[in-house]
Amino acid sequence: MAGTGSLLRALDCRACGATLAPDFVVGPCPSCGHTLLARYDLDRLDGARWFRSLGERPPGLWRYRELLPVRDAAFITGWGEGSTALLPLGPVETAPGVEVLVKDDGGLPTGSFKARGMAAAVSRARELGLTELYVPSAGNAGIALAAYTARAGLRGRVYLPESTPRAAKEACALYGAEVIEVPGTIREAGTAARERERGRGSFDVSTLREPYRVEGKKTMGLEIVEASAPGALPDAIVYPTGGGTGLVGMAKAFRELRSLGLLDRSPRLYAVQPEHCAPVVRALRDGATRITPWEDPRTIAPGLLVPAPFASERVLEAVRETGGAGATVTDRELLDAMRSLARHHGLSVSPEAAAPYAALPRLLADGRIRPGESVVLYHTGTGIPFSADRLEQEIAPPPR
Ligand SMILES: Cc1ncc(COP(=O)(O)O)c(C=O)c1O
Ligand SMILES: [Zn+2]
Repeated sequence: MAGTGSLLRALDCRACGATLAPDFVVGPCPSCGHTLLARYDLDRLDGARWFRSLGERPPGLWRYRELLPVRDAAFITGWGEGSTALLPLGPVETAPGVEVLVKDDGGLPTGSFKARGMAAAVSRARELGLTELYVPSAGNAGIALAAYTARAGLRGRVYLPESTPRAAKEACALYGAEVIEVPGTIREAGTAARERERGRGSFDVSTLREPYRVEGKKTMGLEIVEASAPGALPDAIVYPTGGGTGLVGMAKAFRELRSLGLLDRSPRLYAVQPEHCAPVVRALRDGATRITPWEDPRTIAPGLLVPAPFASERVLEAVRETGGAGATVTDRELLDAMRSLARHHGLSVSPEAAAPYAALPRLLADGRIRPGESVVLYHTGTGIPFSADRLEQEIAPPPR
């Protein structure tokens, strides 16, 4: 065995306090059904030395292998994903005086940040001996599962809402995954998936229903800290929020880095959602500890059409513990942001990934972000499969 040096120690449930040994197949907490999160033996790591050593490691998310769940390097599956660029966007008219940076995950294998989570989850699934994985998805997670199961030689099944863009369905099929279309949103796709898969010996890699995708997403936060000059950590990260795994992952990264003595404050995390599907933003505004499902959800951004995020307690906690907040954007603002980023900055983003840019004026107007601060817009996925003209037709005309 080629050990990775992973310090994985246990799986903890923050909801009921259960603690499990990590080297068995497990989905949600067997006691209460909430999310299990990986815990590492951080006191066995000399934080400062470890952080310095990163500079000598090859690029990619496995450079953080001590803080990732795979124990034997032979099971690592992927295409060198990670170490994406963190670059200044340049002056932004709608955010005068703010230093705007973009963390660009559009160039990851499969075109979105979902590659990070699936790289971790599929590698760990292989290590634990699983052979058949399934996921309900709005598109990108399904494409990533399809690609990583293909790379690993495992079977993948993807449950997609019927309304998923055709390019996404075709991409999953091209990688050899079985594609099942379900009427409704990802919520209905999830219900259908769990019903159909019962008793088949397959494993559910839905957002936060297993412990390891979020570990891959954690590398988003680790990379932002590693790429920032000492003392120049960004003040805020603005994130397009559907299921919220990215937020949970980044908050976990900051928690672990704080435990290692490598961080004294976290960037504030801002959750951006579409105005007609904003359960997380509403719960943040109302001071609730969990979301209530959104009725009649609508948006042109498929990955943000998540009316009832599974682990909303963890998502809300992630935003609150960093001192962040929520903001909504309209579909019109998403489409304008997509066009603006492409035309003025040469950046192709999906409608989801346009949300942070679209939210900037509101975050400034609300005093959440102030001139003089530095803000990372998290670019979660490429816009290349999307037609702006088709999205234009999807935006319902405003009622007269
Ligand atoms: C491009 C893109 N951005 C953002 C999201 C939302 O991600 P999260 O589940 O971390 O909130 C998705 C989810 O499908 C997505 O595909
Ligand atoms: Zn529990």
